[in-house]
Amino acid sequence: MKSTARFRNVRPFSLSLLVFATITGVRGLGNVSIKVPLAVANGSTVNMLCSFNLESDTLYTVKWYKGLQEFFRYVPKEMPHITVFGPLASKVDITHSNQHNLILKDVQHDLAGRYRCEVSADAPSFHTELLSSYMHVVTLPQGNPSIHVEKLRYAVGDTVRGNCTVPPGNPTSNVTWTVNEHRVNSSFLSNISANTGENLQITIAGLDFEIIPDSFSNGRLHITCRANLFHLYQAEADIILEEERPRLASVLGTRESSYIGTAAKRSEDWIYMGVVVNLILCGLR
Ligand SMILES: *[C@@H]1O[C@H](CO)[C@@H](O)[C@H](O)[C@H]1NC(C)=O
Ligand SMILES: *[C@@H]1O[C@H](CO)[C@@H](O)[C@H](O)[C@H]1NC(C)=O
Ligand SMILES: *[C@@H]1O[C@H](CO)[C@@H](O)[C@H](O)[C@H]1NC(C)=O
Ligand SMILES: *[C@@H]1O[C@H](CO)[C@@H](O)[C@H](O)[C@H]1NC(C)=O
Ligand SMILES: *[C@@H]1O[C@H](CO)[C@@H](O)[C@H](O)[C@H]1NC(C)=O
Ligand SMILES: *[C@@H]1O[C@H](CO)[C@@H](O)[C@H](O)[C@H]1NC(C)=O
Repeated sequence: MKSTARFRNVRPFSLSLLVFATITGVRGLGNVSIKVPLAVANGSTVNMLCSFNLESDTLYTVKWYKGLQEFFRYVPKEMPHITVFGPLASKVDITHSNQHNLILKDVQHDLAGRYRCEVSADAPSFHTELLSSYMHVVTLPQGNPSIHVEKLRYAVGDTVRGNCTVPPGNPTSNVTWTVNEHRVNSSFLSNISANTGENLQITIAGLDFEIIPDSFSNGRLHITCRANLFHLYQAEADIILEEERPRLASVLGTRESSYIGTAAKRSEDWIYMGVVVNLILCGLR
């Protein structure tokens, strides 16, 4: 309110000066930029930056808002220069904050939101610039993701079904799968609320794909699940699945029926070979 009143009083004067400045090439407040981290872990200390060049202007105020609420004001003409307001007041590290830097301590989830810095030049221009940026506050998962699959050996035509579980965090993690370095989409994604009383979510991503002859590389499937939460958490889990090859042992052993079932899916040659092997074995007895 105070600045608006001042603004109104001096407007004709400042307008003529603005014209003068434009003609003579004298520049004022400019190059305003804001640096707010995209995401921070809860409990951390955050440094937000509002930089600007004053050139021929003098600084009147720097104000910081979260949403619509002003919580920090720097006024060079007043002592002390810094005043803090509202619920964020206790979070501001006043001794280390200044006209360019705003330091917030022990940031928790309620501090997630849009931050705005507003810089005003003093008379005569009263030029004001404002910029804003959003900050997420995350709770990092403790530990690595884990992969679960139904079994470790597969043949062409089989379907690999499994899932990757990321420990509780907030928000949910992004999960990507690769099979022998090729991206594979998750078949499902679910968020399960962790029973911790906090708003933490366990992220589960499903894997479901049918194996074709090209799937294997040297008889192996190298499956990786990578989880990340912004740039703050990056972790992965991997597992090696092997190609199930028909072996003599499986003809003789208890897994005979599953061997034939698998062989039938592959090609009739395999069935034929199985029969031949059986005939040879019968002949040997
Ligand atoms: C903004 O920055 C550029 C280069 O950094 C500089 O040439 C220019 O004079 C600056 N403008 C103002 C108004 O400070
Ligand atoms: C972050 O939040 C989690 C859950 O809300 C809590 O358990 C943990 O203590 C917090 N960590 C810090 C450093 O505040
Ligand atoms: C994850 O995979 C394991 C092993 O196949 C299975 O037992 C479990 O039910 C799966 N969980 C989900 C949520 O799909
Ligand atoms: C994976 O998902 C993306 C985006 O949803 C889609 O464009 C793409 O076709 C999918 N790829 C496969 C192999 O399903
Ligand atoms: C999981 O949570 C994310 C955001 O945290 C949301 O975008 C997504 O829709 C949720 N998925 C499910 C299946 O609830
Ligand atoms: C997840 O990925 C999307 C797309 O790359 C990105 O916009 C989003 O910020 C990511 N979310 C998290 C929590 O890392």
